[in-house]
Amino acid sequence: MKKIIAIANQKGGVGKTTTAINLSSALAQLDKKVLLIDMDPQGNCSRGFGVDISLISRNLYDVLINKLDINKAIRKTIIKNLDLISPKLILSNLDSAVNGKVENPFFLLKNNLGKLNKNYDYIIIDCPPSLGLLTINALCASSKVLIPVQCEYFALEAVAQILASISSVQNTYNKDLSIQGFLLTMYDSKTRLSVEIATQIRSLFKENTFINMIPRNISIPESNAKGMPVTIYRPNSISSQAYINFAKELIDYEEG
Ligand SMILES: Nc1ncnc2c1ncn2[C@@H]1O[C@H](COP(=O)(O)OP(=O)(O)OP(=O)(O)O)[C@@H](O)[C@H]1O
Ligand SMILES: [Mg+2]
Repeated sequence: MKKIIAIANQKGGVGKTTTAINLSSALAQLDKKVLLIDMDPQGNCSRGFGVDISLISRNLYDVLINKLDINKAIRKTIIKNLDLISPKLILSNLDSAVNGKVENPFFLLKNNLGKLNKNYDYIIIDCPPSLGLLTINALCASSKVLIPVQCEYFALEAVAQILASISSVQNTYNKDLSIQGFLLTMYDSKTRLSVEIATQIRSLFKENTFINMIPRNISIPESNAKGMPVTIYRPNSISSQAYINFAKELIDYEEG
């Protein structure tokens, strides 16, 4: 059965998009069939694959609102086994587009995922930094939610908020949703705060925190600027290794 994983944290800049890009790439490079859905109207995830969302047609907005067949919105990436669905900026108007016109606005994504022709092992959804309709759609469509936690100030407050949203979705629209785990991002062993946050998260969420962490490293912004996943642009960098090891840990967890 395919696994649908939302990558969510309403706090901005914690590494959601970087994780979506590089986890998807790493899974595909480990021979999994992956569909990456860029659910953030800013389209940073798409940009990470060199896709300029201002130039594309057949996008996620058309799928959710204009009833475009989801299979027609899928585009290939530079990585074999990895497909992508991109947004348009207008996706940020989803609330007003559905207002009173759509019966179940929280299930727009879920209903469309049910129409996919191709079989994927993993569907990864990059959420925007908010807890609005887009993120709720992602949580309603997913079996798991992965929470990147930046080893920085206010990390724990953000975690408390996202956990409250997850439990509200579990209690209402998607009782099958569970927490995939916390991924510590931008970790810097030389910074006391980074070490403190990592220790706190591990002691609070022992079972749920991934062993692998993503270190802070320049190869990430460099690969973003090149429009390529770091696993392709700098395959031997510590960032690439960290995402490959994290993907292996996730596969072990999911597939035993
Ligand atoms: N491990 C890392 N090392 C260095 N820089 C990083 C790392 N991870 C992410 N970054 C940088 O931090 C910034 C924010 O990362 P990213 O866009 O992945 O976060 P986000 O949670 O998706 O942000 P938003 O909430 O705006 O969608 C980016 O400029 C990215 O290049
Ligand atoms: Mg993002």
